[in-house]
Amino acid sequence: MKRSHESFQSHTVSPDDMEMDFENNITTPEYVPEDAEVENPLRPRTLREYIGQEKAKENLSIFIEAAKIRRESLDHVLLYGPPGLGKTTLAAIIANEMGVNIRITSGPAIEKPGDLAALLTNLNPGDVLFIDEIHRLSRSVEEILYPAMEDFAIDIITGKGQMAASYHLPLPRFTLIGATTRAGQLSAPLRDRFGVILRLEMYTPEELARIVTRSAGILELEIDPDAALEVASRSRGTPRIANRLLKRVRDFALVMNDGRVSLEVAQIALERQEIDELGLDKTDRRLLKTMIDFYNGGPVGLETIAAAVGEEAVTIEDVYEPYLMQIGFLARTPRGRCVTPAGYLHLGLKPPRAAHVPEQQTLY
Ligand SMILES: Nc1ncnc2c1ncn2[C@@H]1O[C@H](COP(=O)(O)OP(=O)(O)O)[C@@H](O)[C@H]1O
Ligand SMILES: [Mg+2]
Repeated sequence: MKRSHESFQSHTVSPDDMEMDFENNITTPEYVPEDAEVENPLRPRTLREYIGQEKAKENLSIFIEAAKIRRESLDHVLLYGPPGLGKTTLAAIIANEMGVNIRITSGPAIEKPGDLAALLTNLNPGDVLFIDEIHRLSRSVEEILYPAMEDFAIDIITGKGQMAASYHLPLPRFTLIGATTRAGQLSAPLRDRFGVILRLEMYTPEELARIVTRSAGILELEIDPDAALEVASRSRGTPRIANRLLKRVRDFALVMNDGRVSLEVAQIALERQEIDELGLDKTDRRLLKTMIDFYNGGPVGLETIAAAVGEEAVTIEDVYEPYLMQIGFLARTPRGRCVTPAGYLHLGLKPPRAAHVPEQQTLY
């Protein structure tokens, strides 16, 4: 049986990307190994400590309360939204609030139906099974999951031909929590088996400032309120990035300012990382600039952009686009992506007069 660990969170990395990924570590919302050091102590453990996502929290606390009153396991929960918004954290909080254990694995780590069967049969009543990147489960594994989720049982077939035998194996009641960045890629039968579906939203700068302040407290780092807001506003709506930037800023504060993070220290530290006042990094700017210089600002297809900037299409779609769309610099249309006039202005460029300003469409 395989058990995965956060650090296995596989995103598709080809050798060409590695360098790129490394360079962009600081603003990628995806988990990188160097996050482990700060991420673990900073993870909130209870719903009360979990900042923002008010709608999701409100719903969850009611479902958790009701399940406890009925002395039942919680309904299966699907969490979706861009990387770094707190899906894994929330899964652990749910288990903690329910007072049960959590087993953590991921879609790509479960290779065979037998791997999943082993995980399921080892659960204790009420346990949470967390499957990260659940959209990457194989078909054959998914098929085991359906009856497990629905009837709390699996059917195992052993042997072949005349020797084949099938066993019906009851399972303890458990809660499956699935996390995905792409709810759209989940098969309908799988999606339909989740009783609770929660979409995590990007955080406001004020919420992120509260996260930064809380993290600074845990790291015993003194930070001025305006500095916390500065870090927050450059974190692309993403707590993981906010914590990472705080870590960088901490180093500058130590060298420049006896350890205290002032607004000035924060600004200098972030400018050195080439993160602008909206949190855009070199790749974001290159993406927009390429679309403007070579494709008149669009519409241009995702694959074309990916080839032009040398990034994987999925990376652009999962990592770069959500924030660029959130701040209204990029729009998705049926004919491709477009840079909006606001995107031009941010780069110090004049938008074309007939700039194509399509309806903003959401990714998820
Ligand atoms: N609502 C929140 N409040 C405080 N910190 C958060 C919150 N959401 C996420 N974090 C921080 O951000 C980091 C990344 O969150 P994580 O749950 O790993 O994101 P995801 O699984 O969605 O990629 C965590 O280590 C945690 O410290
Ligand atoms: Mg995660």
